[in-house]
Parts: sequence; structure tokens; C-alpha cells
Amino acid sequence: MDEHLIICREVGSTQDLAREMALSGEPEGTAVMALTQTHGRGRMGRSWISPPGRNLALSVILRPTLAPSEAALLGLLTSIAVAETVESAGVPEAQLRWPNDVLVGGKKIAGILSEATVDEKHIEFVIVGVGLNVNSQEADFPKDLRTPATSVLRCTGVESDLEGMARSVLKNLNSLYRQVKKQGCGFITELWEQRWPHRGVRLIHERITGWGHGIDTNGALLLRTEDGRVERVTSGEVIPAHLIDAS
Ligand code: BTN
Repeated sequence: MDEHLIICREVGSTQDLAREMALSGEPEGTAVMALTQTHGRGRMGRSWISPPGRNLALSVILRPTLAPSEAALLGLLTSIAVAETVESAGVPEAQLRWPNDVLVGGKKIAGILSEATVDEKHIEFVIVGVGLNVNSQEADFPKDLRTPATSVLRCTGVESDLEGMARSVLKNLNSLYRQVKKQGCGFITELWEQRWPHRGVRLIHERITGWGHGIDTNGALLLRTEDGRVERVTSGEVIPAHLIDAS
């Protein structure tokens, strides 16, 4: 895809702007970055709040020729690209939490919102949105976060340029996306699982508890339950049981 980055000072949500652009025919690879979002959106209907000018808010239009059942893989792919970006910025080890969170030392450094527009058989387009904590200080993070947060600055002690971060995410995403186009989605599972710390860890989902087993070829989380069955989880979030037991 040809990367084309549009930088805005303030928007409601880069997701919404990118969606409007996709609907009016903008090609894949077009990306929108904003210094401030007044109505940033997170997963599961939550809001995404970020101090003006410090962090990356980026949404990218993709037009993959994948089946709708494979759409979730693009969120996973984006989380790998973001993990690679933060590591190139000097963060030691970026891990992934299903479905799309990027964590460093158990703290969330980035969240990804992947929104697909599909008809019965095709994906029309997908907007992948990246909220990456770049130059946030400890005091910028709300006190009542479910998962503690961190930023590239907190991890490295160095401030980073937001546009440079956006371009790095786009470059990494583009190279992974090119691989998808060439050889299909098969490689994503393994690459994602290499950064996943929850294999064999007891995880709690709203309806099931089980041990992290892996992800399947459509990006669903697989949990092995006490009676040996493997359950698929396709929505919501999972929390390691030891974090709940400890609270
Ligand atoms: C999450 O962890 O809940 C996902 C957060 C995604 C936030 C990004 S910021 C850029 C893009 N625009 C939005 O309104 N949301 C995503």
C-alpha cells in the first residue's frame, strides 16, 4: 500500500475521520494522525482520553481482500507493528495482550481499535486505530485505570517526535501487510504468540475461565478449560486470574 499521512491539529476521533474518508473512496494506506482528539474512542464502547500533543492518535485505512471472518487479524497485525515501533524507540520488550493491547512490564503502552465495514462476503474496508502513549508523564494517566499505563518516555527517559512515531508504525504495518498480501495470514498467529506472555496462564473472561492456549487462524483466543475443552473467545477482554485474586 502507498502510505499517505495526514496530520490534523484537532479532530473528534481519527477513527471517524478515516471512516468518512474511506466511505468517500480514499485508498488504503491513507492515515490520519491528530495531536488532539476531543472524542477519542476505545474498545468496548469506552472513551480514549489522552493529553493534547503528547501521544499518538493514528487511524489507517486498509482495504484487504480477506474474508470477514479474518478481519480481526488486522488488529493483531497492527499490535505487532506498534510493538516493533516502541522497541525501535528503545523500549526493551513489548508484549501483547489479547486482542490488541501492547504492554511493557505489565503496563499498557498502546491500545488498538480495529473497525471493519463488511458486507456478507467481503470486507469493504477496515480502519485500524492506534493510541500510543509516547510522551505522557505518570501524572497524565488517570488514577482509576483498569490496567496501569506507561509511555515510551516513561520507559526510555527520552521524548519522541509524534510524526516520526506515526511514520514508524506505518512502515512496520506496511511491511507486515505486504507479507499478508504475498503469503496470506498464516504467519500472523506465530508472530503474535511470540510476544504473548499468557500461554499456560489462568485467564478470566466474562463467561469462561481457562488457561491461555493460543490464538486460532482467525485471531480468536483459545482457552483450555478445567475439563480439557478448548473454548474460543472472539470478543470482550481477558484478565489474568492472579491480578484479580491479588486485588
Ligand atoms: C483501546 O485500548 O481501547 C483502544 C484504544 C484506541 C485509541 C485510538 S487513538 C486513535 C484512534 N482514534 C480513536 O478514537 N481511537 C483510536
